[in-house]
Amino acid sequence: MSMLVEMINHVAAEGSTEPTVFGPFHVEGAPHREMGDSIIVDSMENDYEITFVGHVLGLDGNPIEGATLDEWETASNGFYDVHDGDQTAMNMRGIFTTGSDGRYEIRGIRPVPYQIPGDGPAGGLLFENGRHNWRPGHMHFVVAAPGHKTVMTHLFDAASDYLDSEDAWEDAEAFGEP
Ligand SMILES: [Fe+2]
Repeated sequence: MSMLVEMINHVAAEGSTEPTVFGPFHVEGAPHREMGDSIIVDSMENDYEITFVGHVLGLDGNPIEGATLDEWETASNGFYDVHDGDQTAMNMRGIFTTGSDGRYEIRGIRPVPYQIPGDGPAGGLLFENGRHNWRPGHMHFVVAAPGHKTVMTHLFDAASDYLDSEDAWEDAEAFGEP
């Protein structure tokens, strides 16, 4: 539901990237990294390393120079650094700035599904309705550039479990949790 609200309130031009929920796990002040660098600070045994590659383009199809991509994903144990005392702060986070080709290249892990906390109101809402608290694997992005509207979005793994039941989490977040 909350993603639907985002879409209805989205007034950017047709053809622009559809915004999605911000989510509760963004952290201000992620380190700036060089294009092509890895966001993996703490390697884990079952890391499946991949490279995220794409371009930031304007509505006219031209690359945008100087766009920042503030991105975050969980470690391969399914936890963000802020929920895992064993991870270094800012593990799996970084801010990347595009060059004149608008291209981004980020080394990370293939996103894994994770569970939102099940012990709060969101968990209660989900479980009382017979739903689960898993999210499909995804990477979060906030993309910003001078003269352009900032967009927050996710990249999902098309082969991830739980993609077809994502609405459960959306409904829960509409209630303000987690
Ligand atoms: Fe997330």
